[in-house]
Amino acid sequence: MMNERVGLLTQAAAPTTAESALAARLGLPLVLPAELQPGNPEFYLCIDVDGLSLHCQEQNGMRGVTVNFDNHTLDRRAKDALRQQNLIKAIGLKKHVIPRVLDCTAGLGSDAFLLARAGCEVTLLERNAIVHALLEDGMQRAVHGSPQTGEAVSRMRLLFADFANYAANLDSFDVVYLDPMYPLRHKSAKSKKSMYLLQRLLDEADEDEEVLTLALQRASSRVVIKRAKQSPNYGNRQPDISFKGSSSRFDVYLAC
Ligand SMILES: C[S@@+](CC[C@H](N)C(=O)[O-])C[C@H]1O[C@@H](n2cnc3c(N)ncnc32)[C@H](O)[C@@H]1O
Repeated sequence: MMNERVGLLTQAAAPTTAESALAARLGLPLVLPAELQPGNPEFYLCIDVDGLSLHCQEQNGMRGVTVNFDNHTLDRRAKDALRQQNLIKAIGLKKHVIPRVLDCTAGLGSDAFLLARAGCEVTLLERNAIVHALLEDGMQRAVHGSPQTGEAVSRMRLLFADFANYAANLDSFDVVYLDPMYPLRHKSAKSKKSMYLLQRLLDEADEDEEVLTLALQRASSRVVIKRAKQSPNYGNRQPDISFKGSSSRFDVYLAC
């Protein structure tokens, strides 16, 4: 199916094999730089030496979003008392307890990567084809990155699937993790440009109580849901434990 909001930018009238293959797989029109018009397409993907990137024409001054696990911010987060971080505490990781995690809302994979850096085997589900392609590309390049990054990514397994439809095909995991999209905030209030671009692309806020019920059926230990600090409880269900940070919190629902 053709995605009308996204194109794939090619530099020459004869696209590369990689460009043609990706355009065909994602159902995207190939666009030459001279054919870009304001807002048409709204977004474009681009393949270059740095990998696959997503650009928003309205944010022309902004660099594109690429999944790069070998970056300073993630590396600092991974080294900086990783086990003291709320995400890691919320999943219940301890010295001799390394949970197997299902990340139902993979996005650009940062949270899953930190879990993998902490030693967890992580299965990631992403339902949006563009986001899935960005993440898949980042994971493939990470194999050639630093040894710690490559080792962590080898513990990550990515699937293109919607958790709500795919849950019945999955085994049980120790922990099921959900990070639903927050409602779109104005650019000036954005915490991270990559998440802002994702919010614009997906233009959705996920809140489905059924998903929490499904998640609890797949978790043998707990379900962890990331929320914005001030957000109401997911599906109005009171968590058993909550780990609060400066801008977000991790709500824990114990499986019984
Ligand atoms: C807020 S982002 C997740 C960010 C991620 N935790 C990270 O560290 O980059 C939410 C992502 O979950 C995906 N998503 C939402 N509901 C989903 C579902 N039911 N199944 C699979 N993916 C889903 C969206 O397409 C989006 O890419």
